Amino acid sequence: MDIKTLRSVTGGMITLDPGYKNTGSCESAITFLDGEKGILRYRGYSIEELAEKADFLEVAYLLIFGELPNKEQLSKFHNDIREESHVDEEMKKILDGFPKSAHPMGVLSSLTSALVAFNPSSVDVSSESEMYKSIVRILAKFPVLVAWAMRKKKGLPLDYGDDTLGYVENIHKMMFKRPNKEYNKNKIAIDALDKLLILHADHEQNCSTSTVRIVGSSHAGLFASLSAGISALWGPLHGGANQAVLEMLEAIEADGGDTKKYMAKAKDKSDPFRLMGFGHRVYKNFDPRAKIIKKSADEVLGDLGIEDPILEIAKGLEKEALEDQYFVDRKLYPNVDFYSGIIYRALGIPTEMFTVMFALGRLPGWIAQWREMRLNGEPIGRPRQVYIGENHRPFVAVDLR
Ligand code: ACO
Repeated sequence: MDIKTLRSVTGGMITLDPGYKNTGSCESAITFLDGEKGILRYRGYSIEELAEKADFLEVAYLLIFGELPNKEQLSKFHNDIREESHVDEEMKKILDGFPKSAHPMGVLSSLTSALVAFNPSSVDVSSESEMYKSIVRILAKFPVLVAWAMRKKKGLPLDYGDDTLGYVENIHKMMFKRPNKEYNKNKIAIDALDKLLILHADHEQNCSTSTVRIVGSSHAGLFASLSAGISALWGPLHGGANQAVLEMLEAIEADGGDTKKYMAKAKDKSDPFRLMGFGHRVYKNFDPRAKIIKKSADEVLGDLGIEDPILEIAKGLEKEALEDQYFVDRKLYPNVDFYSGIIYRALGIPTEMFTVMFALGRLPGWIAQWREMRLNGEPIGRPRQVYIGENHRPFVAVDLR
């Protein structure tokens, strides 16, 4: 039965589903997720295999265009991105307007939106080739904005990339190059970053991705839709959880490392505290990304020779939660954000930048979902409501109220 017939048969019946827990918003061929079994696949390829064998740019291409690129396709894609890797100098003035204390997610969302003004043709999606231009443009410029957001925070001069480097290596350099010093290429850090970006690259219809799709469904351009997605990601119940996890772990450490106390707080319904990095709307089993990240955290810290007491606190919390009836009953397992911050911290990335790193990883997923939505010609997203307010009542003049 098509939707028009269904509406006429049901009299336009509305299903009420706060948080869209059981409402599908679209058909999608991008990411498969089985939350009961803990399976995640991009375009049919398992996340475990991609994290081990692919690099982030290949995964970006796969998500956006549906197939892994061959050598020529990858090289053209990368070269097209390189061609667009400058950001208008005027954009620096916008960045200058922010106080140093500004949260980098707010900065990133604003700068992404501001990019529209400097790239007005980016709203043209009249053909796939026009769409392609916008896609490579944002894949090129977004890392520059990410690096600028971090350099601003650290009081470092703003820089551009080095086109001779790999995509992620270039991002690393833009973020970490110190003035008047040779760039110290750290392969362990670059590989770890690459893997984290792959693990964050898409996760079907989560809050930020649904935001990108719904904003894009009004035919707002790609950059404006992405800017909205960044804002949605910022919240601590979504991408902002990675910052919240690290702050929680630091607080536990400062408080003497008593994990049991915080477990009790998380279970106390009169206390708003939640164990950040635990639980997921879809995964009711282990988040497969958390498994890979936990292993990676051990390896990266080992390879970099870092001993971080926070990693031990995290492992302790996980062990306790896995044995605790409250967490078992509610199927609350560590999610992608639980261990990622420990790696970011080991790489020298400030805590406030963690969600920005998530956005950097999620960028190809958002682009892929936006592109799919536009190519499918999906209608404008417009949920319904069940009105529970006052019935009709007469207006009362101000002096009679
Ligand atoms: N700590 C303690 N209790 C929790 C937690 C937690 N982290 N997460 C869920 N619960 C409890 C709830 O209190 C609720 O208990 P109840 O049934 O007794 O009322 C039950 O588990 C179900 O929780 P909901 O909030 O209804 O689950 P929902 O699917 O709406 O929320 C969410 C999922 C937002 C991820 C939630 O688990 C949470 O707040 N986690 C902490 C924040 C976090 O880590 N977010 C990152 C998610 S991953 C991502 O977006 C990248």
